[in-house]
Amino acid sequence: MDPLLAWRDEFPILSHTTYMISHSLGAMPRRAEARMAEFTATWASRGIRAWEEGWWEMPVTTGNFVGAIIGAGEGEVVMQQNVSICQSIVTSCFDWSGRRNKLVTDGLNFPSNDYIYHGLARQGACIVSVPSPDGLTLPVELVLGAIDEETQLVSVSHVAFRSSYLQDLAAITERAHAVGAMVVADLYQSAGTVPVNVRELAVDFATGGSVKWLCGGPGAGYLYVRRDLWDRLNPAATGWMAHEQPFAFEGGAIRYARNAFRFLNGTPNIPAFYSARSGYEIISEIGVAAIRAKSIRQTTRLIELADAAGLRVNTPRNPGERGGVVILDVPNGHEVTRELTRREVLVDYRPGAGIRVAPHFYTTDEELERTVGAIVDITGRP
Ligand SMILES: Cc1ncc(COP(=O)(O)O)c(C=O)c1O
Repeated sequence: MDPLLAWRDEFPILSHTTYMISHSLGAMPRRAEARMAEFTATWASRGIRAWEEGWWEMPVTTGNFVGAIIGAGEGEVVMQQNVSICQSIVTSCFDWSGRRNKLVTDGLNFPSNDYIYHGLARQGACIVSVPSPDGLTLPVELVLGAIDEETQLVSVSHVAFRSSYLQDLAAITERAHAVGAMVVADLYQSAGTVPVNVRELAVDFATGGSVKWLCGGPGAGYLYVRRDLWDRLNPAATGWMAHEQPFAFEGGAIRYARNAFRFLNGTPNIPAFYSARSGYEIISEIGVAAIRAKSIRQTTRLIELADAAGLRVNTPRNPGERGGVVILDVPNGHEVTRELTRREVLVDYRPGAGIRVAPHFYTTDEELERTVGAIVDITGRP
């Protein structure tokens, strides 16, 4: 008996769908509804006083829940709207016009990150994207080979969104630091399903969001910055909440806060923080180690089922190189995905990779069989 299945009742959507899409939108915990009601009740009854009674501090108090999952200390994670904003904040900390102007990014990075990096070219940045030889994996030596004394920042997606390839962050960080470069890790596809410890990995920045494995809903991105760097980093992408004395409303150049507030900008997305908290609590209560153990067992089982059905697997077979998703490449994958959705088997499709199928801690083994069975039935294989 799988003890994690006791959580199923907490997720209403599981009673009527085969929910294999937590890499895209994690299922909503039942208790999130009460938390949203708490937000409206606070707004209704406390009004403006809500700011000083908790809302103002929420980017950090909510960030502490994320910090507990990714190995950051208290006060070291600030909530933002999304990863794209976090990447803009991180890259705005650097001067890209000097000799050290290289930004090395892994070729499996999320496109949003790429768009932001290429925009830095107008400030003098030289963007080096390390291509994946097969579009699915990226041997770490290739990334290491691109990092040199002119590198300012290395950007790595811990788990690639397209193939679920798990990157060796520790090796990349070691190399980057050896040449005086910093590392920003995108944890969106790892945190909550693969154990992450930002302090042990020694990354300089880490970012991610709550929509997927953390079951927190949209609008709650997070940013971790290594504490000993705070004094040296002055993000150009900023706002009044990052000021040392925001309520002095001084004009002119900003004087940055001395804590993690220096990485904030304008009014935060308070309702999203209420929505996200339940997911963080549940993930922490279960523990990512237990989630990972189950994920490895179930993704391995999915690959076995796919092999038996003659379906092409576009995900690393070595669990040590694989995140929480298995990608199954079938002809007309987009149309097959639409039919799966019609049958209440929820997955998604990414061009160049295939149908992304993700068990999470609440998934039954029977659902793995149902998903592969439905794909076989729709495609007429084997
Ligand atoms: C690895 C990764 N990074 C970034 C994003 C996008 O983040 P956001 O929409 O918060 O900017 C996604 C998915 O949507 C992703 O999978």
